[in-house]
Amino acid sequence: MVKHIVLTGGAGFIGSHVAEHFFHAYPQAQLTIIDKMTYAADIDNLRSIIQDPRVRLAVGDICDYAFVSRYIAEADLVIHAAAESHVDNSFGNSLPFTMTNVYGTHVILEACRLHKTPRIIHVSTDEVYGEVLEGANDESAPMNPTNPYSASKAGAEMILRGFLNCYRMPIVIVRANNIFGIRQFPEKIIPKFSLLLHKGMKLTIHGDGSNRRHFLAAQDFAEALQLLVEKGVIGEAYNIGSEDEFTNNEVAAMLCAQFGYDPKDWVTYVEDRPFNDRRYALHFEKIKALGWRQNRSITNMISDVVQWYRDHADRYEYYLRSPEFLGLKK
Ligand SMILES: NC(=O)c1ccc[n+]([C@@H]2O[C@H](COP(=O)([O-])OP(=O)(O)OC[C@H]3O[C@@H](n4cnc5c(N)ncnc54)[C@H](O)[C@@H]3O)[C@@H](O)[C@H]2O)c1
Repeated sequence: MVKHIVLTGGAGFIGSHVAEHFFHAYPQAQLTIIDKMTYAADIDNLRSIIQDPRVRLAVGDICDYAFVSRYIAEADLVIHAAAESHVDNSFGNSLPFTMTNVYGTHVILEACRLHKTPRIIHVSTDEVYGEVLEGANDESAPMNPTNPYSASKAGAEMILRGFLNCYRMPIVIVRANNIFGIRQFPEKIIPKFSLLLHKGMKLTIHGDGSNRRHFLAAQDFAEALQLLVEKGVIGEAYNIGSEDEFTNNEVAAMLCAQFGYDPKDWVTYVEDRPFNDRRYALHFEKIKALGWRQNRSITNMISDVVQWYRDHADRYEYYLRSPEFLGLKK
């Protein structure tokens, strides 16, 4: 029985969905959320659970060993989701990516090793495999990262492999597709475009908009994590994928449709970023064999998700006023 969960990055987008899910899935467990509260975090993301005495928010940096060790000492499950997560930022200044994603993961692993944590889930990404133009990667595919963000996530996995090999630590790795849902910071395509359209502003797409991504609901992802806590084989990596694949142009059109707008009038194109993977794709038979299913689709959820961003537009007002943030100025 899980008694005390430590979740890193729980005040961010995915972390907050994972926090909610595990709070309800393990009603007897304490939940300690470690989060540095970077620009991507918001205390409001935890509004539904933060007042409960079972939940504690520890504000601090995963790179601070003394800080994380104190909390990990009490945990029988550690879910490590904290990261610098936005690829575009990693083209600007990639050093925080290596610091948090590689060194921070190393710190978490070292604390787990010292305290003999019985279960560790490491949240990685499909981007560690790099671009996949056709077909899909299963978990045995080599890592081939193509940008500073994915390189730092692959670096974290390398440290983790060393720990797995030397100390046989009880770690399960998850590599997921793009995740969508409410509470995502509007640097990512769905919240950003929803808010721009809500404000009556045009959308800017990098390149020609033909880049493709798979989209998985945050709740489906949280359910997969629970299954892996209970049934995941130690030392294994599991892809968590979605059947829903769309180009950026299709995502823009889907969002315009929510506002009754014709994309021809609302989409503009800007120069692409230095390198923009055209497609990522996963085989996810391994987690399906454990009983996981994708239960939600973006087409069914998009109107509720867009409505949430419209209802919470004030929260992001500051960023929507910044041309730099909107990608309109260097
Ligand atoms: N968003 C996606 O589509 C996606 C897909 C696959 C995997 N992932 C992975 O899932 C995880 C969560 O991603 P997200 O989209 O929720 O990111 P996010 O940026 O919304 O949240 C990251 C959280 O980590 C915290 N954090 C950052 N640096 C920290 C540090 N040094 N110490 C403590 N906390 C720190 C932030 O404050 C924030 O709350 C990441 O590991 C990411 O690589 C994301």
